Amino acid sequence: MGRHSLVGGLSIVGGVPLQGRVRVGGRKNSAVALIPAALLAAGPSTIDNVPRISDVDSYIEIITSMGVTVDRPTPHSLRIDPTGLINSVPSTEVVRRLRASYYLWGVLLARFGEAEVGMPGGCDIGQRPIDQHLKGFRALGAEAVIEHGVVKLKARRLVGAPIYLDVVSVGATINIMLAACLAEGTTVIENAAKEPHVVDLANFLNAMGARVVGAGTDVVKIKGIGSGSGGRIRSTGALRGADHAIIPDEIEAATFMVAAVATRGDVVVENVITKHLDPITAKLRETGADIEENGDWVRVRMAGRPKAVNVKTAAYPGFPTDAQQPMTALLSTAEGTSMVTDTIWEARFKHVGELQRMGADIKVEGRTAIINGVERLSGAEVEATDLRAGAALLVAGLMAEGETVVKGIELVERGYEGIEQKFCQLGAQLERLPDEGDEGSAPAQLRVLKSGS
Ligand code: EPZ
Repeated sequence: MGRHSLVGGLSIVGGVPLQGRVRVGGRKNSAVALIPAALLAAGPSTIDNVPRISDVDSYIEIITSMGVTVDRPTPHSLRIDPTGLINSVPSTEVVRRLRASYYLWGVLLARFGEAEVGMPGGCDIGQRPIDQHLKGFRALGAEAVIEHGVVKLKARRLVGAPIYLDVVSVGATINIMLAACLAEGTTVIENAAKEPHVVDLANFLNAMGARVVGAGTDVVKIKGIGSGSGGRIRSTGALRGADHAIIPDEIEAATFMVAAVATRGDVVVENVITKHLDPITAKLRETGADIEENGDWVRVRMAGRPKAVNVKTAAYPGFPTDAQQPMTALLSTAEGTSMVTDTIWEARFKHVGELQRMGADIKVEGRTAIINGVERLSGAEVEATDLRAGAALLVAGLMAEGETVVKGIELVERGYEGIEQKFCQLGAQLERLPDEGDEGSAPAQLRVLKSGS
């Protein structure tokens, strides 16, 4: 998929209560961990329920440039054959497109004893340090340095070790698991991240022949299979290929649930694991929403104005930071004052300035947004600064009076498959605007906004 085709804006005429059914796809943050994990095998793996999003496309671009063969047997599955993998330096430009390119560190270190990968990119939501990743690799016996924007790792042997993470980090937990699978001896990660995609990865690795226990708790043990004699690295993958289906994306589900409440609609969100949605369900119920859970779907109904609630993000099973921004948009029209604190990312309130353009009354103090609910938002031209900020602006546009134009929609498409179609299916009035600069088309920013409808 050409990235350029994604660049553009989305026009939303708000005020329509969302109604109907919507199906959630595979979890983005699992997909971007499982794709590199497949490179630990000697043969091909098939991963199913892979979302069609640009972060996945970027990952495919990176690994194919490194000799891996990737096919799509069906629209949502990938067959990844790492037989031809070579330890080349991936293009810095592609690596910087997404955060999850950092998983190549663990994989290449395990496979080749050496890795040189540029610093990752991803959403601009805070400092995003990598010290815990490097601490983990060093504990396994690697030298780890950052030179000229490139992470350089080197090890003659990787030997399992106890590793205590100073902060709960999803990325460091996963990266250490990837490297430790092929190490000699046992690695114990303490204070590990418990997110469901850590469990998803562990299940995939175990199906590939790895020995990971405890994923989903704060202690994960990995009995390395020792890829080379005496712990020496060998460059053929030491695990076997496996088939695996990715778990549903709880942030996509949360976005639809929040949008249902925001528009005072009635929406059934299908293909979810309701347990993973517990913090979202609990908070939305506090706003006054009626939520029915049943097996693999949830029905979200809202009548009247939501009540203000306080939200504090935390690592799983706390309220996910990735749902904080859409939730802030919803609370901007709640009755009363809400306090939203993001304990994970210090700069995840860039959507607030855009919500203010739409009439929201929000003040950010440090890591907390103080939201005085206004009765309604009014449509305006706004710009997504990151993936979930974009999702928040879509929610805001759906509930606002009149037309909203959300620019930078390509950032949203990094993580949501067919978001425009899915909202339209629920009755939303959405229209894709031509890319800026397209011949013969009016640039999005020149569009005349209608007054309230
Ligand atoms: C992952 O980022 C997700 N990205 C993020 O999703 C998500 O917000 C985040 O986990 C938290 O759930 C991917 O999975 C690709 P962390 P990651 O390491 O791994 C601190 C989205 O919208 N930290 O769990 O980068 C860090 O500053 C995205 O889908 C260190 O101090 O997050 C943060 O405060 C955005 N040192 C906390 O830990 C480290 O070495 C959690 O970060 C690593 C992290």
